[in-house]
Amino acid sequence: MTDVREPVLIPESKAFLNAKVLWVRHWNDRLFSFAVERPSSFRFRSGEFVMIGLPGDTKPIMRAYSIASPHYAEELEFLSIKVEDGPLTSKLQLIQPGDEVYLGKKPTGTLVTDALTGGKRLFFFSTGTGLAPFLSLARDPDVYSMFDQVILVHSVRQVSDLAYHDELASRLADDPLVADEAQAQFHYIPTVTREAFRNTGRINDLIESAALFGEPVQGPKKLDPETDRIMLCGSMAMIRDFAAMLEGMGFVEGSNAAPGQFVIERAFVD
Ligand SMILES: Cc1cc2nc3c(=O)[nH]c(=O)nc-3n(C[C@H](O)[C@H](O)[C@H](O)COP(=O)(O)OP(=O)(O)OC[C@H]3O[C@@H](n4cnc5c(N)ncnc54)[C@H](O)[C@@H]3O)c2cc1C
Ligand SMILES: NC(=O)c1ccc[n+]([C@@H]2O[C@H](COP(=O)([O-])OP(=O)(O)OC[C@H]3O[C@@H](n4cnc5c(N)ncnc54)[C@H](OP(=O)(O)O)[C@@H]3O)[C@@H](O)[C@H]2O)c1
Repeated sequence: MTDVREPVLIPESKAFLNAKVLWVRHWNDRLFSFAVERPSSFRFRSGEFVMIGLPGDTKPIMRAYSIASPHYAEELEFLSIKVEDGPLTSKLQLIQPGDEVYLGKKPTGTLVTDALTGGKRLFFFSTGTGLAPFLSLARDPDVYSMFDQVILVHSVRQVSDLAYHDELASRLADDPLVADEAQAQFHYIPTVTREAFRNTGRINDLIESAALFGEPVQGPKKLDPETDRIMLCGSMAMIRDFAAMLEGMGFVEGSNAAPGQFVIERAFVD
């Protein structure tokens, strides 16, 4: 039985916009997605993050969230963790359509194509909710005109943590804007590290064993700074380990000010 209650409207704030929740989808007891109406003034680049929040006792409780929608979308979609005693997510996981949340006014971030130099293959390496910015980029037609192949790797502990698995495994077949490009250029490689699954092992294991570069991915069977560009989003440990590994292979980190061969963003602060 669905709980029926009045929508929860929140006080106006000078610092943040009020945004109406359009839909909520729970993936398991640790993850959910939701979308809010996009305010007409709200602009962002695919891959950026923004502050999301709810009222607190004295001031709003705001947290950074990657926007999972591409920049042209009419609604703003998010993928969220449920932290049991988390100041924000213990409440945010209860939102329902019609409720309001606070939305920051200034999206920002480094997981943008502007921070990368040109290349042939674009790899997205994500763990956990680090998937979110890549849902935005993988649904952006511009990405397919910039790169020949777009390869999204998502590493999680359990099979039920593979949010969006079916949409991604279909190579975005139902997406009206990128379906054609994605069928030819997009590859999705999910891996599960603490349960049986068709791919197991951390992303670095898949790189070392070259399992990442089997069919249908084309090109060299290793990462190559000449032709490959990489975006990373996940835990601090994952980002730290991968940044060191990539620098050891000759990749140069990029930023909005100085584009490079790989870019990083933490999916949360430990
Ligand atoms: C740039 C950036 C982008 C982010 N984008 C997202 C996003 O798209 N989706 C999302 O769910 N969170 C994202 N986060 C994390 C988010 O800001 C909050 O930490 C999260 O919503 C939990 O808030 P909280 O107040 O409930 O708990 P917090 O007090 O913020 O966190 C409590 C603890 O929970 C753990 N934790 C927090 N977030 C996560 C997570 N995402 N995955 C696994 N463990 C976590 C950490 O150990 C943390 O110390 C992002 C963080 C940063 C810095
Ligand atoms: N996901 C769950 O089922 C679960 C359940 C209870 C509590 N939690 C808590 O939630 C927090 C976040 O969990 P999470 O599952 O979102 O994130 P996580 O622990 O970072 O795991 C997500 C994926 O990243 C991999 N990974 C972790 N560190 C890595 C590194 N340095 N290099 C490469 N890959 C790495 C993990 O592999 P490994 O499995 O090999 O570590 C896993 O496949 C943790 O503090 C955890 O205690 C999670």
